[in-house]
Amino acid sequence: MSAENQGFNTRAVHAGQAFEPRTGAVVPPVHFSSTYAQDGIGGLRDGYEYGRGTNPTRDALQEQLAALEGGSHAYSFSSGLAAEDSLIRALTRPGDHIVLGNDAYGGTYRLINRVLGDWGIGNTPVDMADLDAVRKAVAASKTRFVWVETPSNPLMKITDIAALAAIAHDAGALLVVDNTFASPYLQTPLALGADVVVHSTTKYIGGHSDVVGGAIVVNDAELAEKIGFVQFAVGAVSGPMDAFLTTRGLKTLGVRMDRHSDNGQAVAEWLLQRPEVEAVLYPGLPSHPGHELARKQMKKFGGMVSVQFKGGEAAARTVAENTQVFTLAESLGGIESLMNYPSEMTHASVKGTELAVPVNLIRLSCGIEDVEDLIADLERAFTFLE
Ligand SMILES: Cc1ncc(COP(=O)(O)O)c(C=O)c1O
Repeated sequence: MSAENQGFNTRAVHAGQAFEPRTGAVVPPVHFSSTYAQDGIGGLRDGYEYGRGTNPTRDALQEQLAALEGGSHAYSFSSGLAAEDSLIRALTRPGDHIVLGNDAYGGTYRLINRVLGDWGIGNTPVDMADLDAVRKAVAASKTRFVWVETPSNPLMKITDIAALAAIAHDAGALLVVDNTFASPYLQTPLALGADVVVHSTTKYIGGHSDVVGGAIVVNDAELAEKIGFVQFAVGAVSGPMDAFLTTRGLKTLGVRMDRHSDNGQAVAEWLLQRPEVEAVLYPGLPSHPGHELARKQMKKFGGMVSVQFKGGEAAARTVAENTQVFTLAESLGGIESLMNYPSEMTHASVKGTELAVPVNLIRLSCGIEDVEDLIADLERAFTFLE
């Protein structure tokens, strides 16, 4: 059976993971070598020359990522932001413009606005759910990328990937989807018309909060060649141990995402009936404005839930600081549940801008623990509210 016809979990376990031929070791060894012996000058074995350019452990991860996102090529980096930086350097030039979601991850906006802005890359933040506004913003400048996160971080907005791809392509631009929140198990943007997928593999793909990484996946040889060149020439690559840990996490992505989604749904439904809560932002709730669209373009709704409190900033801070199973920490997507207060933590860098996050909002990353314990933990934290 060819790999393309295999199910998601079979590809997750096997793509790029053939056993080692000499010993039969079922788990391919981690290759730490920074360089490779040559059989005479230029006599490379299987193309391996130097570790920044190629490494078998990184190659295995890249093959696995491409197989799961339905791309022809994947590139692995030392962080999500390193992947984004390399992508922008590879495919934009001074004078080009990026139209991005007005609730993009704060670090992405900081990179685009405060680092790459000085190198001549313009940007316009826009509400991606408002397709007319996107069309106008794209037409107003020399747009090279339309850049979207769906679900977005932390407002959980859902955007129509196929519609955005059409808008981008009509204007001669590319659609970049940050698929960190959904992961390829829940959503495959390339199949919906996107040109590029980026990931913080630190999150669901790694899945165990023990490795930082990023990835780019494309389905086009010309784009791949340009990205591959920058990966090699700039060198923000993942190291062998990071690549190995990411590969190991990725093998269980499907089973983890099923559990994250079940727990996310149950937690969102519990929050919805609490009188202290002003709004629950979770695409699995029929009341969410993007629910129908999410049902179309996602397999399930994931483990990320944002919640806003009637009691404002004080209530949000009280709950954030009084849980025991949910750990107050940056990041998301690990097997352990995490709690985040975005306006002072993950999104502090966009405070005071139009990307600022409401101060009465907390973001929950529901892990794979027993859901009764997650709900009991929240219930206990809620008792601290007046
Ligand atoms: C949606 C999203 N994209 C990109 C990033 C950046 O990834 P990294 O922290 O691995 O550099 C993050 C990090 O939180 C994120 O949440």
